Amino acid sequence: MKIFNIVGARPNFMKIAPLLAEMKQHPELNPVLVHTGQHYDEKMSKLFFLNLDLPKPDIDLSVGSASSSIQTAEIMLRFEPLCQEQKPDLVLVVGDVNSTIACALVAARLGIRVAHVEAGLRSYDRSMPEEINRVLTDAISDILFTTEEGAKENLMKEGVDPSKIHFVGNVMIDTLLRFREKAETSLILDQVHLSKKNYAVVTLHRPSNVDDPVRLKSILLTLAKISQQIPILFPVHPRTRKQLALFGLKEIAKNLILTEPLGYLDMLHAISHAKMVLTDSGGVQEETTVLGVPCLTLRSSTERPVTITQGTNILVGTAEEAIMKESLLILEGKGKAGGIPPKWDGRAAKRIVDILLPVPS
Ligand code: UD1
Repeated sequence: MKIFNIVGARPNFMKIAPLLAEMKQHPELNPVLVHTGQHYDEKMSKLFFLNLDLPKPDIDLSVGSASSSIQTAEIMLRFEPLCQEQKPDLVLVVGDVNSTIACALVAARLGIRVAHVEAGLRSYDRSMPEEINRVLTDAISDILFTTEEGAKENLMKEGVDPSKIHFVGNVMIDTLLRFREKAETSLILDQVHLSKKNYAVVTLHRPSNVDDPVRLKSILLTLAKISQQIPILFPVHPRTRKQLALFGLKEIAKNLILTEPLGYLDMLHAISHAKMVLTDSGGVQEETTVLGVPCLTLRSSTERPVTITQGTNILVGTAEEAIMKESLLILEGKGKAGGIPPKWDGRAAKRIVDILLPVPS
């Protein structure tokens, strides 16, 4: 059974790593790693392969950056002939990035089975490119693996046959648990002169926050205020770096500790020991929940509600007053405590591969 495992953007690498490792335990599976090249920088891609012991991709489509639609189309153009030539039995996609929908769509059109890992998450905000990618990918997938219990309901509301849905847990958390100990050897805190539990981590890259100059300026002014109370480590995503320069906002950020994007181990270390995390990422909301670190999500919706109902996450939006109020509570030691959601136990990849294994004849 030949399986194309698709990665494209940074959050995909930690999701595919445990799946690929698990598939390799089974001689009846022939896993192939396909990188679309949506992310290509040393810091956004190569470093993750090194950190996560991921093998070099078997196939690299090298699409690079473009607008969302052109990038999706370019991936499809390059992926279709590959599928026609190599005839995989299954295309496995993860998450909600452009590479996810592009490869799922090509496979579905060619009659190749599609498995979607992290299916059924919904922010119900169609202005997010990821929400459109999620809805479309789920609609054309044959097997849907979910990370939290509410996802099944979302899928059934959209008419997905419940027999296709499997609640398996969270592969990204498999990776976190596997690398947690190794991440303890990271020297990142020394390098940026911070001490444990005495700093906050910020990540920002959503178009709704960083492509809007007024919104971005307001968030930075709020962060500058918080930084008077606690140092802020801010690894800057390439999209955000571009916008900071374009909008002339670097000066406001001068008291924050800006770095290049961090590799997986450094980031895991930095988040693990932070007093709090402020983010607009999806994955970071889940990671902080498992690490028990208070997280403020600078968005008006989340597709990962379990991080709020069971974890340490609070949705604060982007208004200064709400961010300041919740930040000060955390700094006073009154942060939200949380538990670990069901099946976020390091065994999601095994559950998925057990379901994918061909039935012995
Ligand atoms: C993408 C995903 C988003 C995910 C994020 C993590 C989609 C729709 N969005 O957003 O869900 O949370 O990745 O990073 O797929 N760039 C570089 N080097 C790179 C990659 C990107 O400089 O290696 C710059 C380019 O200027 C590019 C911009 O970042 O135009 C945005 O990259 P892109 O892949 O389009 O989207 P992200 O914002 O990274």
